[in-house]
Amino acid sequence: MHDTIEIAVLIGSLRADSFSGRLAKALGERAPEHVSMRDVPIGDLPLYNQDKDGEQAPSAYAPFRDAIGSADGVLFVTPEYNRSTPGCLKNAIDVASRPYGKGVIIGKPAAILSHSPGPLGGFGANHAIRQSLVFLNSPILQQPEAYIGNVANAFDNDGSLIDEGLGTLLTTFTRAFADLIARSRLELD
Ligand code: FNR
Repeated sequence: MHDTIEIAVLIGSLRADSFSGRLAKALGERAPEHVSMRDVPIGDLPLYNQDKDGEQAPSAYAPFRDAIGSADGVLFVTPEYNRSTPGCLKNAIDVASRPYGKGVIIGKPAAILSHSPGPLGGFGANHAIRQSLVFLNSPILQQPEAYIGNVANAFDNDGSLIDEGLGTLLTTFTRAFADLIARSRLELD
């Protein structure tokens, strides 16, 4: 018997029918029964401006911060843009990290899955996010690492996953992340 785990999913692509969205869906379908995954939209978050935070914060910030704050962990599913993380995702991390001392993402368990149509699997994006999460004191899933190369070959035209090996990795990945969250909870108790 496991305690329920809720994971907030941040997707680093704003385009419709993105590979990121397809991968997030495939991950959700393979999550253990006690784990639920919820996409948290980031496309309408205004660029972070420290002068406009606090009482005057943009209205989109509060529901976003609530969604991250109430989750047990944050899963990043992202492409690589110019060897780094897409700006929308970095902005979401910045919004979740402030106001100073009240960042809802601070110390939150996290896992990162990156991908690319090319062979490198978005390694640069993956580790750019990792770099920010170190500063935010997040316990980060170390293994299995997930750099999904040649991602276009993994799906059929309807967006269903057809790569069985990748399906196995996604299952292992979500289980390992759920275990990390459970261990982090025990340490906090
Ligand atoms: C890319 N793409 C890309 N791919 C990659 O492997 N390394 C990179 O550095 C970049 N840089 C990059 C910059 C910008 C601005 C765009 C729009 C694209 C290609 C990218 O991986 C590809 O478009 C993916 O399909 C985007 O992911 P989604 O939207 O399908 O999830």
